[in-house]
Amino acid sequence: MDFSRPELFDFQGISMTNYFSDNWENTQNFQARPNDIIIASYPKAGGTWLSYLLDLLYFGQSSPERQTSIPIFRRAINLESKITHICRGTEMLDKLPTSPRLIRTHLPVQLMPNSFWEQNCKVVYVARNAKDSVVSYFHFDRMTLIFPEPGEWSSYLQRFMKGKMVFGSWYDHVNGWWKKKQSYSKLHFMFYEEMIEDIGREMDKLCSFLGLSPSAEEKERIIDRVQFDQMKTNNMVNHSGLKIMNFNVSSFIRKGKVGDWKNHFTVAQNEEFDEDYGEKMKDSTLQFRTEV
Ligand code: A3P
Repeated sequence: MDFSRPELFDFQGISMTNYFSDNWENTQNFQARPNDIIIASYPKAGGTWLSYLLDLLYFGQSSPERQTSIPIFRRAINLESKITHICRGTEMLDKLPTSPRLIRTHLPVQLMPNSFWEQNCKVVYVARNAKDSVVSYFHFDRMTLIFPEPGEWSSYLQRFMKGKMVFGSWYDHVNGWWKKKQSYSKLHFMFYEEMIEDIGREMDKLCSFLGLSPSAEEKERIIDRVQFDQMKTNNMVNHSGLKIMNFNVSSFIRKGKVGDWKNHFTVAQNEEFDEDYGEKMKDSTLQFRTEV
């Protein structure tokens, strides 16, 4: 199948492409179930890592065959996507036989279907510092044929600062969800950098939010499976075989580091970025680490 690089356009106040807006009515009318688990993030924050962790926590023991037969993007399904006529997130979620459903989304908080709030669903949001996010997004856009052409790094960085990315501004996204956390108690906020620092600790916090209590042995097993090197070579989570990605250009599970931005930002770009960041984030209480 031929996939074409889409154009960005303004959609409900954010930049978007047809692959995530074409199924909008079904997305907005999506019927949540009270035990749905929502995995929300801006692109490239470690959403797949978190999805795999959650999948192992919920289904690792009860359905081990799942780990070798179903790719992660079919276990934790993106709500708003419509890649082809038969590949619609909402429909795939309606047909998911497992419970709870693991539902992924990159939507900014204000565009989330109401049903999730009405059903008081648990939400886990993972955030990653802006500099590593833009670098990761750049490489992802280079390899992923259903995202706009990234062009040169320097213009891409400018575009990121202006919020002209698929799913809009990073700054608005993280701040919007952070604000939601203040009024919605069933939202657990995680940081990529903290997961890198100590995945066991972050998994314990996540389990306590979800009311799960895996045995020490099970925890060890999960921690081992979600290691970067393990995930990189695991064809059920590294997206290999996905026709919308060109693996000759980059990998999906690429570097998995905090601070890779230093290999991409020039000194001048870093200064400009920091100044702009300070302005955009001046009213926010969110703090990110750009090194660990
Ligand atoms: P990099 O491109 O910086 O390597 P998402 O799943 O939200 O698209 O996020 C992708 C990013 O998470 C990529 O970052 C990817 O390498 C990283 N990642 C995936 N699995 C990881 C793991 N087990 N440990 C650390 N980083 C991981």
